[in-house]
Amino acid sequence: MTVSYLKMEGIAKFFPGVQALKDVTFEAAKGEILGLIGANGAGKSTLMNILGGNLQPNAGRILIDGKEVCIDSPTAAANHGIAFVHQEMAMLPTMSITDTMYISSYPYKRGLIDYKKIHQNCRSVLKRLGCNFDPREKIRNISPGDQQMVEIGRALLHNPQIIIFDEPTSSLTLREKDHLFDVIRSLKNEGAVIIYISHFLDEVFNLCDRVMVLRNGETVGGGQLSDYTYNDIVKMMIGSKEIDTYYSRSEHSTGEEIMRVEGLSRTGIIHDISFSLNKGEVLGIWGQLGSGRTEVARALVGLDPIDSGMIFINIDGSMTPVKQSETKKYIGMITENRRKEGLLLPMSVKNNMSLANLPKLTKKSIPFVIDPKLENSQVEKFVSRMEIKISSPSQRVETLSGGNQQKVIIGRWLQKNPLIYIMDEPTRGLDVGAKADIRRIISELAEQGAGILVISSEIEEIMSISDRYIVMKRGGIVNEFGGKVTREELVAAATGALTEKE
Ligand SMILES: Nc1ncnc2c1ncn2[C@@H]1O[C@H](COP(=O)(O)OP(=O)(O)OP(=O)(O)O)[C@@H](O)[C@H]1O
Ligand SMILES: [Mg+2]
Repeated sequence: MTVSYLKMEGIAKFFPGVQALKDVTFEAAKGEILGLIGANGAGKSTLMNILGGNLQPNAGRILIDGKEVCIDSPTAAANHGIAFVHQEMAMLPTMSITDTMYISSYPYKRGLIDYKKIHQNCRSVLKRLGCNFDPREKIRNISPGDQQMVEIGRALLHNPQIIIFDEPTSSLTLREKDHLFDVIRSLKNEGAVIIYISHFLDEVFNLCDRVMVLRNGETVGGGQLSDYTYNDIVKMMIGSKEIDTYYSRSEHSTGEEIMRVEGLSRTGIIHDISFSLNKGEVLGIWGQLGSGRTEVARALVGLDPIDSGMIFINIDGSMTPVKQSETKKYIGMITENRRKEGLLLPMSVKNNMSLANLPKLTKKSIPFVIDPKLENSQVEKFVSRMEIKISSPSQRVETLSGGNQQKVIIGRWLQKNPLIYIMDEPTRGLDVGAKADIRRIISELAEQGAGILVISSEIEEIMSISDRYIVMKRGGIVNEFGGKVTREELVAAATGALTEKE
């Protein structure tokens, strides 16, 4: 057995109403990639936040190279060679890339920040990550994938010995992902300890040497990955709960038209988007990251302006033109970016879930006054339907695990029960069991007559739920397919290997 460099021993962490970690112990050696996996709320981010100095444990100790260390702040962690690539990036859009990367560690020269040096350092770290943009650029001018690379670059600036990646790939394109994996492998070869958290088990099998599985704050297993199958790992993560990983939608008929979009355009962003959606239909929007999928969704609910185009919605049996600012009455949108658009983080789970649904929660006798009994019973119903892990409905959303925050967003729109749903990466950050649940819920909504637009970067996911597809590239629709399309045809259409419909 290789000698361990990092050891976390007997770690416990309590939060009000929940014990997030119970007596967790693990070791990791230099030159090894350890996969840290577990269902939503299992305690992965909490454990790594303790190692990264963001949280203090209630019990336990940390040893590096055989010596016990005190990690009471992120700066202390950095001084011990620990770097953390966070699950949710919190970046200021108006800040430059350099400032974002250096915010806690500006090098000074004669009392002044040595900008020449830090631009150079940023450029060389970003180059290693395969990014060619200028570090003086503002964060808001680069794509979410590039922002993720900046977050990774920030972690690599000071030659860390222990690097934690908390779900780093969710906003990366395939090419960026491959590049990141090469970088992680080269860090491993240089002798770093890598801890890798992901809900994509194929990534874990592809990249990691060993795994450790957490369930409800406890270690339930682990070891060399070569000793396990995919199913062994899933069983360890979720216990005996049955899941339907290979769920696929049965053929069914769809009803009359529920929404029609004609010539939706915004200069330089999307052009001439036209399609139609029926009642009971799941329409998949497939395309590469940056192809304009999210921009179409945002335009449909009025989050971004349009220059031209019409949106028709079937209101009481007739297709009616609806102003962009009014479509929100009929469309529920589950966004890909829960921090910016989805949730009010300092507010409670209950408030966040009721928010989309206030008129339906008021007392019949007194308008505008929320009926607390009704509100509580609705919230309880959805918390249990979605299996959201909370200590009480008044728990603040910012203290939920990443995956459970996503479930709150979905629960909120289920309560509102709109005619049309737009789901942009609905299962991002969810564990395998929760992903299967969401697929089943989408199917049920369609059977009840809703029209559903789904955007997903996971081809298996989009193929297991969609009845029909539109494929986007460079802001336009380049192809449409029925339910019988193959995986190869979809991929080829999005990358341009098929003839474009022009
Ligand atoms: N500041 C906090 N206050 C209260 N509870 C918290 C706080 N931070 C985390 N928790 C709780 O601790 C538990 C573990 O959360 P954690 O974020 O570690 O899960 P995770 O394994 O990273 O899940 P995911 O895969 O969804 O990201 C959850 O029940 C969460 O609600
Ligand atoms: Mg997490």
